[in-house]
Amino acid sequence: VYFFVTSDQVFTLQNRLVTLAVQNAALSIVMHYSRVSTPPALSYSPASAVLLNEILKGSISFLIALSRVREVAETPWHRKSLWGIVCALPYPGTKPFWSLCADIFSPDCWKLSIPALLYVVQNSLQFVAISNLPVASFQVTYQMKILTTAAFSVALLRKRLSSTKWLSLLFLALGVGIVQIQTSDGGAGHAGPKHTTVGSAHDFHVHVMNPMKGFGAVTLACFTSGLAGVYFEMVLKNSRADLWVRNVQLSLFSLIPALLPIIYSERPANSQGFLLDLFRNFGAWAWATVGIQVFGGLVTAVVIKYSDNILKGFATSLSIVLSFLASVFLFDFRITPSFVIGASTVLSATWMYNQPPGKEPIISLSSTTS
Ligand code: C5P
Repeated sequence: VYFFVTSDQVFTLQNRLVTLAVQNAALSIVMHYSRVSTPPALSYSPASAVLLNEILKGSISFLIALSRVREVAETPWHRKSLWGIVCALPYPGTKPFWSLCADIFSPDCWKLSIPALLYVVQNSLQFVAISNLPVASFQVTYQMKILTTAAFSVALLRKRLSSTKWLSLLFLALGVGIVQIQTSDGGAGHAGPKHTTVGSAHDFHVHVMNPMKGFGAVTLACFTSGLAGVYFEMVLKNSRADLWVRNVQLSLFSLIPALLPIIYSERPANSQGFLLDLFRNFGAWAWATVGIQVFGGLVTAVVIKYSDNILKGFATSLSIVLSFLASVFLFDFRITPSFVIGASTVLSATWMYNQPPGKEPIISLSSTTS
């Protein structure tokens, strides 16, 4: 909370970029390890992780929003120390608490239900994708988000793209295609069955990945990411509500789709009650995954508010390099020429897409926007 409250001062442009890149790379590595390192029977529930992510993100956003309510923010010593912020947080029943609640339950809060649903679907699909693909292939294919974000921006926000940007999107799809084809063939990484020794010889198990299922999930996640991102941008830019209030609304609406699969899932034979079942097999790696996801969600919100999607795209493309290097050391990822060609094409396309607008002619998908 302290980090995000004081982020205006400590978060420089470069800090945001590097933080998001490291977070992206760390998330894919830790999430992948948390899924493949234990036999399926001893694995935690992704639905619980998605729910926990929303509860924690919403609670932290609520505390930040509370610290920004005028009566609290005006406390002169409030920004100076962590203790100052804790002391400044008012208790339920005080004026700042109720004025914040009024903001959260404003008449237009329903608008956040659409990105909330999309983000829950996306966060769930991410678990399917990362369990069935090598980390580096997942990261490269996930770059298709840029393509879907551009398409939804043109369709919904009536944005215009230069010919250079369209060309770079074409290269992006080409690069993803190259990585995809050779990963499906089992050419790179460990797309085939993966052997992981856990603890003792007794725990030894084989984690079988299904690249087709992984690519299907990541492709769908790219669509939800693009649509949710553009919709969130639309809601933010069309109102004056505080970003953290919007984040609380987003998390509140996310609780419904995040809870549904848990309520309707089959209870285990040796059920120990709802809460204990929810956190069954929730070990250190599962908590680390949720922690990095929560942090990432909050950093994404800060990046959207104080910077833009261009910076976000750059950060994720940087994370490809980080995940790739980490995969070589941690998961015995095998470097093949076609992976290098595909990944380089994606990186170059991302760089090209993020170039400031030049003098090139503008082309558009629809005649009304040209
Ligand atoms: O990959 P992408 O940038 O679309 O991922 C966005 C992630 O950040 C999602 O996990 C989403 O839940 C989270 N997010 C958030 N708050 C926002 C926007 C995104 O927690 N305001």
